[in-house]
Amino acid sequence: MDESHPRPHTKVCPYFPGVDWFLDNPFRRFFLNPDQLLGSLVREGMTVIDLGCGPGMFTLAMAERVGERGQVIAVDLQQGMLDLVKKKAKRKGLAPRIRLHRNTADSIGLAVQADFILSVYMVHEVSNQELFFREVHGLLAPEGRYLVKEPIFIGKKAFAGMGAHARSAGLEPLEWVNGRFTHKALFGPQPGPAVLMRDPDFGGCPVF
Ligand SMILES: C[S@@+](CC[C@H](N)C(=O)[O-])C[C@H]1O[C@@H](n2cnc3c(N)ncnc32)[C@H](O)[C@@H]1O
Repeated sequence: MDESHPRPHTKVCPYFPGVDWFLDNPFRRFFLNPDQLLGSLVREGMTVIDLGCGPGMFTLAMAERVGERGQVIAVDLQQGMLDLVKKKAKRKGLAPRIRLHRNTADSIGLAVQADFILSVYMVHEVSNQELFFREVHGLLAPEGRYLVKEPIFIGKKAFAGMGAHARSAGLEPLEWVNGRFTHKALFGPQPGPAVLMRDPDFGGCPVF
């Protein structure tokens, strides 16, 4: 497949009754623990974006971390997903820190400077990844960070293709893990001091 072109057959995870349970349940929280994934990347007072927030498992975790002075912008194509985030945020008293934004498949359509942007299990659903990453690049503050986590079913080759698109859009990998069981990358808008490239299939050894 020529990865430089939009992928017209990309499927978006649809809204359906029960999607909240499907994407936000104890089993998923165990294997995809928000605290472990976010580490020290999201802190008090930050402005952060959850791109492709779905039912908001990570939106809510980030809202807890940014505190009352911070803000989380939850972005999704589907109104049903945003409605779920709204309901859960109200229930937990986190609604004042969360802004909901419905975008289109062609554009994120935000004008902010974010300290941190997160995309979990969504980039493989984006048909024109290079265009998408360019927009992400424009939203990042100079010291901002962008974390991408993808499911194992997409495969190493597709994740490597994503990395190539991100780089040509100006996002530099600061950490890169592309193994059989993990696809995760942390990007910054400028070259970082060192790029840690890891492929767990090679014994988990760092490869610089
Ligand atoms: C598999 S779900 C993951 C949801 C959430 N990130 C999580 O891990 O719980 C992917 C979500 O990304 C959204 N999505 C797909 N393409 C998108 C795009 N171009 N812009 C914004 N959201 C998108 C879908 O609507 C869906 O809600």
